[in-house]
Amino acid sequence: MRRVTLDDGADLAQWRDAARSLLADDVPPAEVLWQGGAQGDLLGAMAMATSAADAGIAGTPAASRMPDATGTPRVSRGFLALATLVIAHADPQRHARLYRLLWRLVHGERTLLAMATDPDVAWAHDAAKAVSREKHKMKAFVRFREVADASGAVYIAWFEPEHDVLPQVAPFFVRRFAGMRWSILTPTRSAHWDGQALQLGEGAHRGEAPDGDALEELWRVYYANIFNPARLKVDAMVKEMPRRYWKNMPETALIPALVRDAGARMQQMVDAAPTVPRKAFPAPDLPSRPLPAGGLQGVHQAVSACRACALWRPATQAVPGEGPADARVMVIGEQPGDQEDLAGRPFVGPAGKLFDRALREAGIGRDTLYITNTVKHFKYAPRGKHRLHVRADAGEQAACRPWLEAELAQLRPRFVLCLGAMAGQALLGPGFAVLKQRGRWHSTGDGRAVLATVHPSYLLRLPAAAQAQAWDAFLADLRMLRSALDG
Ligand code: URA
Repeated sequence: MRRVTLDDGADLAQWRDAARSLLADDVPPAEVLWQGGAQGDLLGAMAMATSAADAGIAGTPAASRMPDATGTPRVSRGFLALATLVIAHADPQRHARLYRLLWRLVHGERTLLAMATDPDVAWAHDAAKAVSREKHKMKAFVRFREVADASGAVYIAWFEPEHDVLPQVAPFFVRRFAGMRWSILTPTRSAHWDGQALQLGEGAHRGEAPDGDALEELWRVYYANIFNPARLKVDAMVKEMPRRYWKNMPETALIPALVRDAGARMQQMVDAAPTVPRKAFPAPDLPSRPLPAGGLQGVHQAVSACRACALWRPATQAVPGEGPADARVMVIGEQPGDQEDLAGRPFVGPAGKLFDRALREAGIGRDTLYITNTVKHFKYAPRGKHRLHVRADAGEQAACRPWLEAELAQLRPRFVLCLGAMAGQALLGPGFAVLKQRGRWHSTGDGRAVLATVHPSYLLRLPAAAQAQAWDAFLADLRMLRSALDG
């Protein structure tokens, strides 16, 4: 019997090194005793060894292996992708099970992963699915609380994942909250971001994460706003947001009351008179209640977890605004495109590159602007390998509206630049016609000056003959903003 002792929290690289050396020595799965690993379990490993022998896998001739030039057996990318997820599963037998799969793959069963009914394969796919789901839940349900230390605000979250997903999910939070210092604490691991580097550390206790603060209030306000009594389906809600996450989510304190009052609120909706569409050029509707603390970062967090319309589901992630919290100018685009969806940042694709060029020519630094979109998720239709941009409809724009308002309320920009009709109409009313009313300042009556111009993607779509003139007009609009900033 060969003993393999892994560190607690062993990652794929450590398992792979161990598995490589076992394969090099021709040790069949039934003769390996896997020990250690964060949730390692000797009994589990022994049970695996027995069932491997029962399955008749031990002793498969080594001759059918496919070594590479260095003598290490080759495995497909599919296996590595599967193993990356499975290694995070809480099953104490995962190291042994993965090794058994690997052994079979390199001993002649090269198409094994396609055999969905094979018990080892079925287990691996189920485990990978459970880990993927947990990653998704962690991205959606982590809630940060603000604390302060000598250097300012730090955001701490407590989360109890069912699987060891923190190392795989932490980079998502780095991208999302690059500008703030934060820690995510779990019972088995912690992740810390200081604005420069990500560090993974040991697990923590619930008591180390702070309870309650103004950010919780933001979540509650958000949740109460998106809760639609007419769509209340308790079972579906519990499936989407399982009860075990509730205790760390401030907004769930509202759920019993919202569910209890749903009938009466729906009746009120039925009885209410139809709403009259707003006239052109109203002042933007700032939230009627004071926004809770948490600043723009708090809004970005809420945007990332937004489920107010269906666009979040196929999207990779939400794309909140970015830029300095004291920016004098807020730029509002329409909605993220393919590249923005992948990067999680606004205006980084072709339209963004054109916009960057125009900003340079107009003498405006992109890093002085707060840039956001009217709708925060990418909407698309899949076409083969591509995702074709689809314009967000009025309902989706309305669902996203509170975030634009929250950004306006937090940033309080002196100037707003709207790119395209969707943004112009969001700020200046549904009657706003961008081609007719671009290139002049509009006052919204609250001290904010709004300038609208065409969207850079409009320039990209124009026939070549019309482009030079349209480009000059676009630059002229941006120079108006530049003069206002200078003046
Ligand atoms: N178009 C937009 O309106 N916004 C983006 O972020 C990218 C393209």
